[in-house]
Amino acid sequence: MPLLPTPSLADTALLAASAVQDLLPSTRKLVFAPDGETVLLLNMEGELYAMENSCPDAGASIACGSCCDQHVLSCPAHGLKFDIRNSQCTASPQLQIKLYEVLVLEGKIWLRNPKARSL
Ligand code: FES
Repeated sequence: MPLLPTPSLADTALLAASAVQDLLPSTRKLVFAPDGETVLLLNMEGELYAMENSCPDAGASIACGSCCDQHVLSCPAHGLKFDIRNSQCTASPQLQIKLYEVLVLEGKIWLRNPKARSL
């Protein structure tokens, strides 16, 4: 019997990320997609954001970056800052973090890869 391919996040319309109750305001967590990609999930004052856990500058993990403003996350490697509402680096807007669409359904947080929005 042939093995079925493991679905990647790009192929999956929605990824179950967390229970809403497990992501309290001002907390964050990493979510591991089936293909091994990691996604940073943030609760910023009750607003949920999800982004690829890789800085577009040199690929550092942004999971432990500090939040210097309500919607600005600083990369711990070289200090670039990203506005997580629009994904852009505040100093170089052409540098962008990939954001995921966040949906809350029946008490669970679901993520949709931007590449899968047309699915
Ligand atoms: S790797 Fe993030 S600022 Fe350089």
